[in-house]
Amino acid sequence: MAKVTIDGVTAEVPDGTTILNAARMIGGDLVPPAMCYYTKLKTSGGYCRTCIVQVTKGSDKDPRPMPKPVASCRTTVMDGMEVKNITSPELLEARAGVVEFLLLNHPLDCPVCDQAGECDLQNLAYANGKAGTRYQFPRREFEKIDIGDKVQLHMTRCILCYRCVKVADQITDGRVHGVINRGDVSEISTYVANVIDNDFSGNVIDVCPVGALTDKTFRFKSRVWYTKPVDAHRHCTKCTGKVRLWYKGEDVLRVTGRKDHYGEVNDWICNECRFDKKKTADWTIEGPSHIDRGSVISANHYESLKALKATIERQKKALPHGNKVSLGHGALDPNNA
Ligand code: SF4
Ligand code: FES
Repeated sequence: MAKVTIDGVTAEVPDGTTILNAARMIGGDLVPPAMCYYTKLKTSGGYCRTCIVQVTKGSDKDPRPMPKPVASCRTTVMDGMEVKNITSPELLEARAGVVEFLLLNHPLDCPVCDQAGECDLQNLAYANGKAGTRYQFPRREFEKIDIGDKVQLHMTRCILCYRCVKVADQITDGRVHGVINRGDVSEISTYVANVIDNDFSGNVIDVCPVGALTDKTFRFKSRVWYTKPVDAHRHCTKCTGKVRLWYKGEDVLRVTGRKDHYGEVNDWICNECRFDKKKTADWTIEGPSHIDRGSVISANHYESLKALKATIERQKKALPHGNKVSLGHGALDPNNA
C-alpha cells in the first residue's frame, strides 16, 4: 500500500494506483477531470492533459517535487507522495491553458450539437476554461465522411482522445480505423466506416467525450435535458442487456449504456439493444436513472417522491414568504406530491 496526500487529504491506496484513481477513491472536488482516460479501456489516457496535477513531493524516499505538471491518469502514486490539484493556482492556470488548446479547433456549435448537456468538453470549459481565445487562425475543417446509417462523425469536433480507437481495438473484432497524420491535420481515418458494422460498434458513441460521434437515430430529436432517463434491462445473448432508455413522453428516443459518476459506461451494450429495441415493451423498467445534481439533465428529474419533496422544500425556503414553488410546468403542493 502507498500513502498519498492530494490537496491535503491523505489516503492509503494499493501500490500501482494512478494519482487519478487515488483521487477518485477519495472523491469530491479534488478529482481531476479526464477527457481521454477510460477505466474500461486498456492503455487509455495520456493524450489530452486535462488531468494534470502538481506533485510537490515525489515520495518519502525521494521528496523532490516533480519539475512540471504530470498527467495524473498515467502517473502512479509513490509512498509519501504529495499532490496538489485544486489547491494550486498555478496548476489551475495550466489546466485553463490545456482547455484553451482543446478549444483552438473545436467549433463552438453547442447550440446545434447533440452532445450539448452531456458533453465533457462543455463541462470542462465551464469549470476550467476562459472566456476568450488568443488563436487567430481559422479552425480546422475536414471533408465530410459518411460512416453508415447509425453513427454520425463530425471530425471538426474531435479532440483526438483515442477512446473510439481503443473501443474498436478492444471491444470489436478487427479494428480498421485509427488516427492518421500528425499535428493539426490529425484525423480519425476513413476506415472508421468499416468497424461500424460490428455488433459493439455503437459503444464509440458512448465513449466519445464530445459530439464527434453521435447517434444518428437520435440526432435533432430533442435536447437531452428534455428527455427522461430510465434504467431498464432485457435478456440479451450478446451483452448484459442493462441499458438506459431516454424517454420523451411515451417514446424511447435513444438507448445508451449506463454511465457512472465519471461518465464512463458500466457495461458495453450491443447494437441490437442500442438501435433496434426502441419500444417500452422490449424492456423491463427498473426506475429513474441516477443523474448527478450538477448535470443539466437533473433539472426536473426526480428519482423518488422523497427527492421531489426535498427539492420543493428547498425551493420554498429560498423564496420570499408566500411564493409558490414551481417545478416544471406547474406549481406543486408537496403535501399532495
Ligand atoms: S471521435 Fe470522439 S472518441 Fe474518437 S478520438 Fe475523436 S473525440 Fe475521441
Ligand atoms: S485524462 Fe489524463 S491525459 Fe487525458
